[in-house]
Amino acid sequence: MKKMYTLPELENMLTCRGEEENRLYSEAKRVKNENIGNNVYLRGLIEISNICTKDCYYCGIRKSNTETARYTLSDNEIIEAADFAYTHHFGSIVLQGGERSDKEFVNRITRLLREIKKNSNNELGITLSLGEQTEDTYKRWKDAGAHRYLLRIETSNPELYAKIHPNNPLHSHSTRLKCLESLQHCGYQTGTGVMIGLPFQTITDLANDLLFLQSMDIDMVGMGPYLEHHATPLYEYRHLLLPLQERLRLSIHMVAALRLLMPDINIAATTALQAIDPAGREKALEIGANVVMPNITPTTNRTLYKLYENKPGTHEGAAESMRKLEESIFKSGCKVAYGTWGDSRHFQSR
Ligand code: 5AD
Repeated sequence: MKKMYTLPELENMLTCRGEEENRLYSEAKRVKNENIGNNVYLRGLIEISNICTKDCYYCGIRKSNTETARYTLSDNEIIEAADFAYTHHFGSIVLQGGERSDKEFVNRITRLLREIKKNSNNELGITLSLGEQTEDTYKRWKDAGAHRYLLRIETSNPELYAKIHPNNPLHSHSTRLKCLESLQHCGYQTGTGVMIGLPFQTITDLANDLLFLQSMDIDMVGMGPYLEHHATPLYEYRHLLLPLQERLRLSIHMVAALRLLMPDINIAATTALQAIDPAGREKALEIGANVVMPNITPTTNRTLYKLYENKPGTHEGAAESMRKLEESIFKSGCKVAYGTWGDSRHFQSR
């Protein structure tokens, strides 16, 4: 299933225009439909807390941002949100939150996983997106019922990684890589991804990111445009950024190119695409993505989970966003597959 492309070929895919761009899109669409069909899988996203021990220069919920009120959902709120996903036949949920690794937190997640699995008769699939942890923690959470894990590498270039993170051992590129390997070792379906259009990032960096995803034999990818947040250190470099529409276009090209490289993985149409253009996610689904993560965090806390500004859907109720979502998936020529975990074919065929 592995298709090889050279770095110059990938760079060209990311920058092509006109006829070539149309060919890239139609080829990616064909490869997707041939390999995995037009099903779109839902993961109900529950943003459990915006408390974070990390201080990433790009992120609105970084530890040093004192402008953000901090929240943590109660056990009940998390369990009720999971129940909403279960009764609405989403098939799976994602528990995402700021990074913490204290004992109390690790134990709490373990307990919640068991409870959610029990409440759903083991039917609900659970993905975690809770940052860097020890292999022992990853194992415990897997034993308690999680089976997929998302940890973005953010960029595969260690030098660029160093520019967008503080220079301390908490923010090391090699630790992040080791975590991804631990996750694969523990048997998780492992997802990673990058931000697209970061200051200092080149087209070659992004082409290398694509080769990195392929060489890691990753099962799922979530990647989207970098969006500046005023209360972060990287905001200072906003004059270096591509215009928003160009960042969106580059992100769509990344999705299409990745689909050509990895025909049977799960690729998410991310919220950050939608933040630039209301139809951004649709476009990604049309040309290569097959996963959407509707936000099912209780609305009172949703406005506080701001990784970047103008985050869409922060004021809507669940029913309203579901209706909109169904409509946009339909418009992109795909259909929602309810009541299934929607594992990546790539993982299944291992
Ligand atoms: N713009 C876009 N994506 C961001 N993330 C964090 N901050 C931003 C931002 N300003 C992404 C990171 C992280 C994920 C949870 O959100 O890639 O891994």
